[in-house]
Amino acid sequence: MKLVFKTPAKINLGLFILGKRPDGYHDLETLFQMVSLYDTVELESLENQIELVCDDPKVPTDESNLMIRAARLLQEAVPEKTGLGCRMVLKKKIPMGAGLGGGSGNAAGVLMGLNRLWDLKLKPAQLSKIAARLGSDIPFFLCAPSALGQGRGERLTPLQPPKKFYVILVFPRVSLATAEVYQALNFDLTKNSKNIKILREFFSQSNIISLGAHLHNDLEPIVIKRLPVVESIKGKLRSLSAAGTLVSGSGSTVFGIFEDSKAAEQAFARCREEDWDTFLTETVSSFSEFMPEDLLNYP
Ligand code: C5P
Repeated sequence: MKLVFKTPAKINLGLFILGKRPDGYHDLETLFQMVSLYDTVELESLENQIELVCDDPKVPTDESNLMIRAARLLQEAVPEKTGLGCRMVLKKKIPMGAGLGGGSGNAAGVLMGLNRLWDLKLKPAQLSKIAARLGSDIPFFLCAPSALGQGRGERLTPLQPPKKFYVILVFPRVSLATAEVYQALNFDLTKNSKNIKILREFFSQSNIISLGAHLHNDLEPIVIKRLPVVESIKGKLRSLSAAGTLVSGSGSTVFGIFEDSKAAEQAFARCREEDWDTFLTETVSSFSEFMPEDLLNYP
């Protein structure tokens, strides 16, 4: 059997850092949304061995890769099953080190896919626990297309998807390391007077104009300081009538949201004239938009 499926990118419409924890992570509140930019993953059973190949030479394919680590954690979760192995093929479209959760989505896809391929019958709660060990963003990709994330991002509340809106992603072709961006946080300068509640309300009302006006990311000033081009990209998107613009996650991608598909297409055409990697996407409302039914309904 061979499984082929896509894994999406995410954006953070809001990211509010609440404080630093004793374990080094930060407590936060975030509004996650999947968008229609996808990598493709193929999985095939292989006796004992775990293999990964990728069409992008910049992707490490050794034991440090989250897909391989996901496969190893699944093997460990069912020590009674022997001989489990797989060949994984990754076709990459989502930029890396971009704040779009591409690698996290790939790893979550592997957890779902291998559960099916190896017929492990692990429940969603078990998969989420393994996902949280791999990375803070990974449980989101198992949860829902729209969700509120708390804790270090792994405690999730699924949200009703809003009416579809359009999202232009602009990757300035420079990657940032998440840990370094978090390390540069200065709590004296972070005033958490704003919070996620108002954002959540506009989101649930599908009020894209007000949502755009209230997008907020506490990490954005750090990203702009490191990469001043981010400010130019925001300016460009604003001048092309985006309802709002924001750095996604720990950057470096900037996104702009649009209520209207025509305006988004026009803005996309203009952004493509620049030396950036630009993607026109829409919000994802259901896993069935990118995952085959038999995978979604397993076990
Ligand atoms: O969980 P993940 O491995 O994706 O996190 C990468 C790095 O980002 C962590 O090592 C930590 O430095 C930082 N981080 C954080 N607080 C979070 C999530 C990530 O400080 N909630």
